[in-house]
Amino acid sequence: MKLVPFVMERTQSVWENRVELNISESGVTPLTLGELLDGASIDDTKLIYPQTNGTPELRDAISDLYPGSGAENILATNGTAEANYISVLSTLEPGDEMVVMTPNYMQVVGLARSIGANVKLLPLHEELGWAIDPDELRKMVTDKTKLIAVCNPNNPTGAVMSENAMREVAKIAGSVGAWILSDEVYLGAELNGEPSATYWGWYDKLMVTAGLSKAYGLPGLRMGWVVTDKERAEYLWSYKDYTTIAPSALSDRLATHALEPARRTKILERTRAILNDQQPVLAAFVERHGNHMSWVKPKAGAIAFIRYSWDINSTTLMERLRDEKGVFIVPGDHFEMDHYMRLGYGYHKEKLEKALTRCSEFFKDLD
Ligand SMILES: Cc1ncc(COP(=O)(O)O)c(C=O)c1O
Repeated sequence: MKLVPFVMERTQSVWENRVELNISESGVTPLTLGELLDGASIDDTKLIYPQTNGTPELRDAISDLYPGSGAENILATNGTAEANYISVLSTLEPGDEMVVMTPNYMQVVGLARSIGANVKLLPLHEELGWAIDPDELRKMVTDKTKLIAVCNPNNPTGAVMSENAMREVAKIAGSVGAWILSDEVYLGAELNGEPSATYWGWYDKLMVTAGLSKAYGLPGLRMGWVVTDKERAEYLWSYKDYTTIAPSALSDRLATHALEPARRTKILERTRAILNDQQPVLAAFVERHGNHMSWVKPKAGAIAFIRYSWDINSTTLMERLRDEKGVFIVPGDHFEMDHYMRLGYGYHKEKLEKALTRCSEFFKDLD
C-alpha cells in the first residue's frame, strides 16, 4: 500500500512549534502532568508492556462512557489516529466503496484512497448548518459500500449531527450492510454543556473511535480507543499487534486516572469554560470582517471553519500569514475546500487575540 500524503498533519507537524502564533490547533490548552495528577502519585507505575489492548482498569473506565458496553468492547489505541487507522485498514479492500461526510478530518479519506477504495464524499451543507442531506447518502450507497465514516462533532466545522440524521445514516448503512465508523473525539467539548449523542447503541456494525486529545485536553498522552462489538474488538486487536503493540504504561495509568468520573467531569468543565470564554473573541473577528467572512458558529470543539471571499487561494493565505505575520492557520485546501480557513481558538487567549489582530492587518491590506 502506497500512502497518499496526509498534508494537514504533516504541515502542522512542521510548523506548529516554529511559528510565533499558532491558531491551527483543534483542541484546548492541554493540561500539565501536575494538573492532571492533582496531588496523586503514579511513581509506582511499572514501566512494563501493559496488557496490549489496554489494562482492564483502563478499558472499564472507557466503557463507562458507552452505556451497555464492557471492557471486552474496547481496544485502547495510541490516539484516535491509531483507532481510525486500524478501523479503516481492517474494513476496506481495493475496489470497496467508502462514503465519508465532508469536510472531515482527512485521515480516513487518505487511508481509504491509499488502500485503493473508491471514496465518495457526502457533503455537509453550510446552508443547513453543516448538516448532511440523507437523500444524498441514500443515492450514494451501493452493495459495494463497506464503510460510512462520520465525524461527530465534526472537524473542521464544529457542527453536531442531529439525532434524526444519525438515525437516517444508520438505516441507510443497514440497507447495504455497511459498517459505520463514527469518530467522536470532540464529544464532550460542546459549548452548551450538553454532550452530543454517541453512535454507540444505535447500530450493530459500528466502530466508534475517540480519545483524550480534544475534549479532555490531553493530546500528549496519545490515548485513544475503538468501541465495537466483542468479536470486532478481538479482530482489531490483531492489527494492533502489528502497529504499536500496546499503549504506553504511563498513558494507560494516566488515562485511567483522567477518566475517574469526578475528574472526568472537572476536566470537561475546564474545556467548556475555555471554549465559552474564547469563542466570542473569534466571533468578534468574524463580525469585524463581515463583508468578507461568514461562518456557522461551531457548537463543539475549539475550531471554526470560516468562509472568506478575498481572491486568494487558502494555501497561499496560510503561507503568507505564516511568513509575513507569524500566524499559523489551517487552509481550506487541506480539506479540499478552497476559500475557507480553519481557525483554532482553544489555546492561549492573549495569543489568540494577538494572532487575530495580525490577521486583521493582513486582510486590511488585501482590501
Ligand atoms: C476528527 C479527528 N480524529 C482523530 C484525530 C487524531 O487525534 P488523536 O490525537 O487522538 O490521535 C484528530 C486530530 O486532530 C481529529 O481531529
